Amino acid sequence: MIEDLWYKNAIIYSLDLETFMDLNGDGTGDFEGLARRLDYLHAMGVDTVWLAPFQPTPNKDNGYDISDYYGVDQRHGSTGNFVEFMHQANKRGIKVIIDLVVNHTSNEHFWFQNARSSKDSLHRNWYVWSEKKPEDWDEGMVFPGVQPSTWTYDNKAKAYYFHRFYDFQPDLNIDNKEVREEIERIMGFWLELGVAGFRVDAVPFILETQGPGKVGAKIRFDYLREMRRFVQWRRGDAVLLGEANVLPEDTQKYFGQEGDGIHLMFNFYVNQYLFYALATSDVEPLVKALEATRNEHHTTQWAHFLRNHDELDLGRLTDEQREKVFARFGPEKHMQLYERGIRRRLSTMLGNRQHIELAYSLMFSLPGTPVIRYGDEIGMGDDLSLKERDAVRTPMQWSADHQAGFSKADKLVHPVISEGPYAYQHVNVENQRRDPNSLLNWMTDMIRLRQECTEIGWGKWQILDIGHPNVLAMCYSWQGSNLVVLHNFAEKAQEISLDLKQGKDIKLVDLMVNYESTANEKGVHRITLDAYGYRWFRAGDLSHLMQKGM
Ligand code: NOJ
Repeated sequence: MIEDLWYKNAIIYSLDLETFMDLNGDGTGDFEGLARRLDYLHAMGVDTVWLAPFQPTPNKDNGYDISDYYGVDQRHGSTGNFVEFMHQANKRGIKVIIDLVVNHTSNEHFWFQNARSSKDSLHRNWYVWSEKKPEDWDEGMVFPGVQPSTWTYDNKAKAYYFHRFYDFQPDLNIDNKEVREEIERIMGFWLELGVAGFRVDAVPFILETQGPGKVGAKIRFDYLREMRRFVQWRRGDAVLLGEANVLPEDTQKYFGQEGDGIHLMFNFYVNQYLFYALATSDVEPLVKALEATRNEHHTTQWAHFLRNHDELDLGRLTDEQREKVFARFGPEKHMQLYERGIRRRLSTMLGNRQHIELAYSLMFSLPGTPVIRYGDEIGMGDDLSLKERDAVRTPMQWSADHQAGFSKADKLVHPVISEGPYAYQHVNVENQRRDPNSLLNWMTDMIRLRQECTEIGWGKWQILDIGHPNVLAMCYSWQGSNLVVLHNFAEKAQEISLDLKQGKDIKLVDLMVNYESTANEKGVHRITLDAYGYRWFRAGDLSHLMQKGM
């Protein structure tokens, strides 16, 4: 088979137009600004950009409340600016994925306004209604502590409407064929404008059948296949990247029994155990999570990430495990959110460079496609004085100039971080570009390394049992290329023994420093790892160690 699935080894960079680069000086980021920064992304090695929603919106949930699916919010420019940006991205070989937010619309969307106007209106059945107050009106909230219910009474409609998220985000009725057709039109529209796919918002909620008392009752996995078919029919190499924080036993249903479901899914499960390992140095639960989410099909793949634009969701950990992560990374109440997460950036949680490198090296080495969050490449901080998740959504810090070089305006959509150790005066792209030892230059090297190790996307993988509670040892093998990757989660250096059953003449060649490990007469490599150290080695044939699927 010709290995031609671009997403298997892509490097995805996620950003929000709003806070990336404001060229016209109105205080909000725009497409012209982003276009000017494409060379920066290209030089770092990024080949795919995922854009958060940029369509017209009342903007009460960071753009995840869309009021028109076929345009660009004027704060970010025009559809013309979007097409120009796409042209510039294409020229550099950068693919663009956009958010597809179709579980719900904004309540200001014309469809909802029409739906509530009368029972016989054209769009009434595009939403989910109940004339009586449903018994489960206060169940299944996604934002506990902030969102009081999932059903809200609308005076004009004289009925309750269902909303998985905030009350200004009424759920679309996906059971309705007209709605599904409209979703195809939306995907078709943006594919025609050149996007390479969609980050599908809230996948499990799109798939569930809604109605009073029905929440979570039935999941229509078929619909994912339908979406994939449509997308690929319109553009053969387009992908769906799903936001679905699901249990391991359900993942193959999302990927499809034949690998014909969603192409990519964020591995939230591994993400939570990864943070547990970073907090406690204990790698065993992470190993279990990796095994539990082993993917079986070539045509689908996990996306791995550290932080995103939301809270670090730890809802899948046990209470005891979650408490340990809270204690280490978010000990104060105001750092926590929705009874399950932490609203901080990676750098402020981890605090030191070695730990951050460990986390990113690990992410790049996991079986899947890596996704970087804007600003994490320079170690940006958070602003806990901002509400909820806005803490991690401050403007990109480009330089030590006015407003971090993000904008000429005095008042911004979110304030820049201007005080403390993460202030833009110290933490910015311009400084780090000039410093050979900066995190930015380290990240650029790391991306290059990941791109050279294509067996991570294509190959089989195995966890190596080295009998050490703090060290994760993994290997990959694909068409004669073999890789061994080691990560030490402990705060002190370790020496480990590695028996690759390759005999004693085969060397391990370190891919980052000038070092080669030779096995002793028993065929065992003795390898030292620094505190929070990591090492990537090329190895001789390891196919004999691979037992299972992908
Ligand atoms: C998931 C998005 O990541 C989050 O930011 C948003 O609030 C909800 N979906 C609702 O769209």
